[in-house]
Formats: sequence, C-alpha cells, structure tokens
Amino acid sequence: MGGADFRIPFFLVTDMMKTWHLLLVVFLFAACSQSTEVEFKRDGKSLYYNFGGCANCHRTNDQKLVGPGLAGVSKIHTEAWLKKWLKDPKKTWEENDAETQEMRKRLGEEKKSSPGMKLMHPLEDEEVDGLVEFLKTL
Ligand code: HEC
Repeated sequence: MGGADFRIPFFLVTDMMKTWHLLLVVFLFAACSQSTEVEFKRDGKSLYYNFGGCANCHRTNDQKLVGPGLAGVSKIHTEAWLKKWLKDPKKTWEENDAETQEMRKRLGEEKKSSPGMKLMHPLEDEEVDGLVEFLKTL
C-alpha cells in the first residue's frame, strides 16, 4: 500500500456518464426544437416570402409578376374576402361574388374559367390571418 489511490470509484464514473448523457440529450433536444422552429416559421411575412410561395407570383409594389402587385391590396379588398380568397382561390373564383367580379374586371380576367392563383399548399386559418396582417403592411 504505497501512496494514495486516485482512481475514481466505478459507481461514480457511471453516474457521471449518465449525467453527460442526460446533458447531451437535453442539448440535442434544444438544438432540434430550435431548428424546427426556424424551418417551420409561419408568420405572415415568412409565409409570404418562403413557405407560402406568394413571392413567386407577386411583388409587394404595384408591378405585375404572374399576379398583380399587392401594394395597397388590403384597401381594395375587404378582410373577409381576402381570407376567403387565400383559403380557396378556385372556390372563390367559381362563386364569383361582387368583389371577385370587380377584381376579374380590373385584371381583364372576366372570361377566364379558373384563377391563375394556385397555392403551393393549403393554408391553415391562422396562416391566412397572418398573411392578411402582412398584406395590410403593403
Ligand atoms: C401561381 C402564382 C400565384 C401564387 C403562388 C399566389 N398568387 Fe395571388 N394571385 C395570382 C394571380 C394570377 C392573381 C390574379 C387573379 C387570378 O387570376 O387568380 C392573384 C391574386 C391575388 C390577390 C388579389 C389581388 C388583386 O389585385 O385584387 C391577392 C390578395 C393575392 N393574390 C395574394 C396572394 C398571397 C398572399 C399568396 C401566397 C399565399 C398568393 N397570392 C400566391 C397568382 C398567384
């Protein structure tokens, strides 16, 4: 028996490993949930420019791209119509209410049987609300 024995008892090593594993799991979980948040961010502006694909067809000024420029669009349309349109352009087109008729006339699309606007993916009600809020800023 010469000198002190500095070995760490085995039970302590496994205990420390458990702590590390726990920390690792917590860290990975935090990292993952954070990246998911960024990837699926769905506020109106993000939807407009990314996930919703609006910017593929619309400019935020008064210039036409595929669809009309959207500057001031919330002053042309009622909020209820905007929500209806974003929820289902095809159905809105076919129903052809007074506001849709006005738009079609303004855009010279009275005779088109279906809308040029095709959504990249169906929008949830909250996403529609967010988009309408964003449109109000244009
Ligand atoms: C594939 C192209 C395309 C995409 C994607 C698209 N739009 Fe459209 N949008 C159009 C076209 C074209 C019109 C004109 C009416 C028509 O023919 O459908 C229109 C019309 C509109 C109008 C009415 C404009 C007016 O002057 O009365 C609004 C508001 C609108 N879009 C918002 C959006 C938003 C918000 C998104 C994203 C969720 C979007 N659009 C995605 C093509 C598109």
